[in-house]
Amino acid sequence: MTAVEPPLALLAELTHRCPLRCPYCSNPLELSRASAELDTESWKRVLGEAAVLGVLQVHFSGGEPLVRRDLADLVRHAAEIGLYGNLITSGISLDAGRLAALVEAGLEHVQLSFQDAEMVSGDRIAGLAGAQEAKRRAARLVREAGLPLTVNAVVHRQNLDGLGEMIELAVALGADRLEVAHVQYYGWALRNRAALLPSRDQLDAATVAVEAARARLAGVLVIDYVLPDYYAHRPKACMGGWGRRFLNVTPAGKVLPCHAAETLPALDFPTVAEASLSDIWYRSSAFERFRGTDWMPEPCRSCDRREIDWGGCRCQAFALTGDAARTDPACTLSPDRELLVGARKDADETAPGFVYRQHSAAPGRSPQLVSLME
Ligand code: SF4
Ligand code: FES
Repeated sequence: MTAVEPPLALLAELTHRCPLRCPYCSNPLELSRASAELDTESWKRVLGEAAVLGVLQVHFSGGEPLVRRDLADLVRHAAEIGLYGNLITSGISLDAGRLAALVEAGLEHVQLSFQDAEMVSGDRIAGLAGAQEAKRRAARLVREAGLPLTVNAVVHRQNLDGLGEMIELAVALGADRLEVAHVQYYGWALRNRAALLPSRDQLDAATVAVEAARARLAGVLVIDYVLPDYYAHRPKACMGGWGRRFLNVTPAGKVLPCHAAETLPALDFPTVAEASLSDIWYRSSAFERFRGTDWMPEPCRSCDRREIDWGGCRCQAFALTGDAARTDPACTLSPDRELLVGARKDADETAPGFVYRQHSAAPGRSPQLVSLME
């Protein structure tokens, strides 16, 4: 067994509250209420423990982290203890005053999500009228403030044909980087899989568009794009391997190796109230469970990629097979690979409508939003 290295990054999920209702939402099916969220002092303690543990970057995320009034306090604390602070946001409620406070507190980078390049479709997927206009305004503010900007685009059947326009939008907004991420099918997204999984033809056209744009925009825009698991031959090293690079702290303080790990039933994830991040990272049974290669079944156990992809994604293995300890069916060597075939067939049929994520505690539900919901 190789020595356990400290994590590189902490995903601080400050809240599950969110003004959007994306049908691929990666937050757990059971959301934390605002009253259950860690308070400011607890988050500061967690950030301090992360710095001591060796974490270099903190990603302030959610839900929508801007709904936390103490966000600038937390950003300041992170900067003071040497953590690189990145904000992952929908941008919906970002205004010049709020951004100036965050910049003054030491924020170093912003990742802004877009649901589509086209306004009507973007608002429809986000489930909020006016969302796209607000996001464009937020992007302008971020660039005017001199912060580097990454555009996050989650792609799927309903927006993949517009990927070329999304690339142009990222350039027009002055982004340095475009992260194109295919939907991961667990939690809420699994419920909408038939509506969201793209067809092979869509995927091939998108790959051509990305390759052409990468050549044309070299030195202007970095485009991160990888094939989605359902069409790949080998899985990705999810999170860089379980308990190897990242840790997640949920709004209520549970410490996880990935944002979806709460979907796995048999693991007991400690909270920051029960143990230090260091204890949890190095000694908790939940982080040990799928770390390294000892846990692997065949064919992973004797595979020469076992320390490259670490057996793929545990949450996807569980979502598809009901057993988190099986080889990820995204691998063609998996005995469960057939489970993906039916899903891909569905992608060639007419897409059903999707089911919006409902946030009972969503703030600012506007009359426009109500009309979209009806
Ligand atoms: Fe990765 Fe396991 Fe497939 Fe080998 S068999 S490529 S280790 S998922
Ligand atoms: Fe949990 Fe991949 S999302 S291991």
